[in-house]
Amino acid sequence: MNIIGAPVNPGKSCQSFMNIRLDRFLSNNTSLTRSEAQRAIRTGRVRVGEIPVNDPAFKVGEGTSVRYEGIELGKRQSRYFMLNKPAGVVCATRDGKHRTVLDLIPCDEREGLHPVGRLDKDTTGLVILTDDGDWSHRVTSPRRHCAKVYRVGLVEPLPESARLALEQGIELRGERRPTLPAKVETLGMLEIRLSIQEGKYHQVKRMLAAVGNHVVSLRRESIGTISLDPALPPGAYRPLSADEVASIG
Ligand code: URA
Repeated sequence: MNIIGAPVNPGKSCQSFMNIRLDRFLSNNTSLTRSEAQRAIRTGRVRVGEIPVNDPAFKVGEGTSVRYEGIELGKRQSRYFMLNKPAGVVCATRDGKHRTVLDLIPCDEREGLHPVGRLDKDTTGLVILTDDGDWSHRVTSPRRHCAKVYRVGLVEPLPESARLALEQGIELRGERRPTLPAKVETLGMLEIRLSIQEGKYHQVKRMLAAVGNHVVSLRRESIGTISLDPALPPGAYRPLSADEVASIG
């Protein structure tokens, strides 16, 4: 598996678009360089669908067919990556103040990507990035019951009554419904593995606070059957395998 090492130009931003530029699509799918692709587009050799397009910045949406000199280049494919999020980085596509998970992906790969769900700035571990909105929705929708598993460091031991409360579902302030049943595994005196099916704002921290405890460290280990690759150092990412993508039904 192709692991890509950490931050290129940390903090340097480049624009993120929902769709990829036509010149990039052309250079990604042919042997043309970016400037050759731009020339080919400007001289009318590229069609998007049935229409000749002369603007290299034209945005190619997913599933759009592109032809170069009459040859179909194939439809744009969705992209999926897993990233080992370090602490101090925010799960957003842009942020005026902090480095984002997209800043850990080189500019030429990050176009159109968004993080699937959010981790807090101080939370580490598995973040999935994709440009496939439907797939992303399947991961985050509580109706799909896609488990998110966290390793949680606690300020004090978790009594049995608190474990039961978390497993049954717990009322969180400001929420209309209790949390869906969670699974708790004790890993040590001050450490648990918690599996939840939703992704409410600060959910794990709020659940532990609701049973009188406090989270001191939080790391996401898996989403559904997709586990953080142990070969990925903090800040590094790799493409998801076809099986990993298909595992989200
Ligand atoms: N729950 C939290 O409280 N924080 C996270 O980052 C993820 C889940």
